[in-house]
Amino acid sequence: MDKYCVFGNPIKQSRSPFIHLSFAKETEQVISYAIQFAEIDGFTEAVVEFIAQGGKGANVTAPFKEQAMAMCDELTEHAKFSGAVNTLTFKNGKIYGDTTDGIGLVNDLLTNGVSLKNSRILLLGAGGASKGVVLPLLNQKPKSLTIANRTVSKAKAIVEQYTDQPLLACSFEEANEQVFDVIINATSAGLTGNGVPISEKLITINSVCYDMTYGKELTPFLQKAQNLKANKVIDGLGMLVGQAAESFDIWRGVKPAVEPVLKELRASLNAE
Ligand code: ATR
Repeated sequence: MDKYCVFGNPIKQSRSPFIHLSFAKETEQVISYAIQFAEIDGFTEAVVEFIAQGGKGANVTAPFKEQAMAMCDELTEHAKFSGAVNTLTFKNGKIYGDTTDGIGLVNDLLTNGVSLKNSRILLLGAGGASKGVVLPLLNQKPKSLTIANRTVSKAKAIVEQYTDQPLLACSFEEANEQVFDVIINATSAGLTGNGVPISEKLITINSVCYDMTYGKELTPFLQKAQNLKANKVIDGLGMLVGQAAESFDIWRGVKPAVEPVLKELRASLNAE
C-alpha cells in the first residue's frame, strides 16, 4: 500500500487524513495517509525517516513549508515563486516539491461563481499564506491585484518578484481608500480574534469576501463582511479540500471530486 502523510507541528487537528482517505475511496486508490508530528528542529530527519519507510509523498503544513522547499531536488515554477512547498513527492531517490494552496483557492472562488478575470482583487497580508496564492490569482488575469499589509515592505517585496503584472503593494490605510471586487484575507489576524484593520467602507454590497481560514463560526473578517451585507462571504474550507485534491492528483494522477468531501467536512465541523 502506498504511504502518504502530512507533516506539521501541531498536527493533531489536521483534517488531511480524512480528506485524502475520502478521495482514495472515491477514486478506488489503495493508499494510507497519516498525520506525522515533527519536532520543530526535526523536520528534515522526520522526512528522511518517512522516505526510508517507503513513503511516496507528503503534505507539509505550518511551520515547515519553507524547510520543505529547501529539501527539494526539483521545484515547480509556482513553488519557486511561493517560497514554500506543501506537496512533496518521493520518486527515484529524489524529492519533488510543489505548492497547491493557490490553485485550491482559485478553484474554490470559481466554484463559488466568483469571476476573477478583469476583477480588482485585494489580498490582505504578505506572509507565507499570501505569497502562495499570488501567481495562481495573476494567472486568472485580474484587472489588478493589490497586496495590503501592516508591514508594507513585505508586500512590496512580493510585488518585486514579478514583472509585467498588474500587481501593487500598499498599506491598509491606502487600501481603505480604494474600491475592490474581491477581498481575500490571508493574514493571521483573525486567528487571535482581533480581526484585520479594514474600514467599513471597503466592504459594500458588491464585495466578495473570502477568508483563507475557517471555523465553526464565521471568522471575524467574514462576520464583519456579513454585517456589511457583502455580496458573498466564503471561508477557506473549500480551499483546504481543493489544495488536497491537487496534491492527490500530483501523486495519483487522478483528480478527485471536491464537493462531496467538502459537504461532509462542513457537516462534521458544524456538529463539533
Ligand atoms: P502565514 O504563513 O499564515 O501567512 P505569516 O507568514 O506569519 O503567517 O504571516 C502573517 C500575516 O498576517 C502577515 O501579513 C502579518 O502582517 P505583518 O507582515 O505586518 O506581520 C499579518 N498579521 C498578523 N497579525 C496581524 C494583525 N493583528 N493585524 C494585521 N496584520 C496581521
